[in-house]
Amino acid sequence: MDEAAPRPLISGRPSGPLHGRIAVPGDKSISHRALMFGALAVGETRITGLLTGEDVLRTAAAMRALGAEVSRDPDGGWRVAGRGIGGLIEPADILNMGNSGTAARLLCGILASHPLFAVMTGDASLRRRPMRRVIDPLIATGARFSAREGGRLPLAIEGARDALPLDYRVPVASAQVKSAVLLAGLNAPGITRVDEPQATRDHSENMLRHFGADVNVEVAGAGRVIELAGQPELRAADVVVPGDPSSAAFPLVAALLVAGSKVTIPAIGLNPLRTGLLVCLREMGADIVVRNSRTEGGEPVGDLDITGGTLRAADIPPERAPSMIDEYPILAVAAACAAGTTRLRGLQELRVKESDRLTATAAMLSVNGAKIEVVGDDMIIHGTGVPPAGGGVVETHMDHRIAMSALVLGLVAASPVTADDAGFIDTSFPGFVALMNGLGGSIRTVPAA
Ligand code: S3P
Repeated sequence: MDEAAPRPLISGRPSGPLHGRIAVPGDKSISHRALMFGALAVGETRITGLLTGEDVLRTAAAMRALGAEVSRDPDGGWRVAGRGIGGLIEPADILNMGNSGTAARLLCGILASHPLFAVMTGDASLRRRPMRRVIDPLIATGARFSAREGGRLPLAIEGARDALPLDYRVPVASAQVKSAVLLAGLNAPGITRVDEPQATRDHSENMLRHFGADVNVEVAGAGRVIELAGQPELRAADVVVPGDPSSAAFPLVAALLVAGSKVTIPAIGLNPLRTGLLVCLREMGADIVVRNSRTEGGEPVGDLDITGGTLRAADIPPERAPSMIDEYPILAVAAACAAGTTRLRGLQELRVKESDRLTATAAMLSVNGAKIEVVGDDMIIHGTGVPPAGGGVVETHMDHRIAMSALVLGLVAASPVTADDAGFIDTSFPGFVALMNGLGGSIRTVPAA
């Protein structure tokens, strides 16, 4: 992926409001987990609505390399014939996780308690990201890891033959670290215990239960303590993947910002540990109605009706970050168009995403004429109630969410906005441009100079 030629795109003001009903692709977090748990279960798991973005296809390829049969039906459904816990086989070659931190970190957890040797790498973005946060706890299973300086990929893993269960307090708010520890615990006897000081997305816990594992969760202040009974027999289960709220965020904010728009996005995952953006946007005066609230495959789901209007500034507290960690770039775009000064607080984890998203988001806005300051780990955006001037070229730094945020900004800025490389959008949101243009957006390839 990182060797591919950059694909610049430019977006400008559409001729009218955005209108329509659009289905966004399946949830990325749930899609990775469905493939992984399917591979560890006994029997055949069927998955509907799986995201077919590049990140998830990397997980599918890795699970195949580890011996699971993963196939796609002509109707778009997926099947995983699992090998049972402890049943994965040694991969014959290096596992390349592409751009995906979730794939890499969760897989480290699985491999730590399988007695096999594996080497993992990723693209230039993933090779810069910290893996020490999973290596440190996983070593206590008895697994051995050798990584590059700073705990970066590529890394080699020798999984433990008789893995020990972990008892770990996660030092940062990270669902990936929590999930890696739980996944290692699947093939360790006894109780694996994870203590998270702030609650993070609980898709692993929900899906483990769905596959028959014994998982106990206790609320502890703002955090949770999760206990998993080791070596369960995971039984294959059908998984219905809801629409990804983190992908819906882009057409949603676009519809709010383009005056007169009316857009419906059905079947979106509304797990309360993922919906911080909706809380913020409503505080900013957004008109978002949730209809048909229901539960599908153990996850809350609903349809969103969005009506364009004006937004006002808000003060976003740090404790909301885990429930909207991937949504800050697009929230910053909304804030840049709102009236007044918005503060986004406690964004330290944004520095270790697909890019340093704190710096990349600030640069995206300032190159397009918005007034923005980064003070410590906070972002302060001085909105005027009128969209920024635009006209800038945004450096996307191999980060899909920076690219999509920049293209949404271009729909409202006075002059068109260019994303220097929109190729990485395919990691999470294949079809993004066609979908936005289908609503009435105006996103095009950059004409040759
Ligand atoms: C994810 C957790 C989050 C999020 C990522 C997906 C997951 O990462 O940013 O896109 O599926 O568990 P962290 O755990 O590093 O916060």
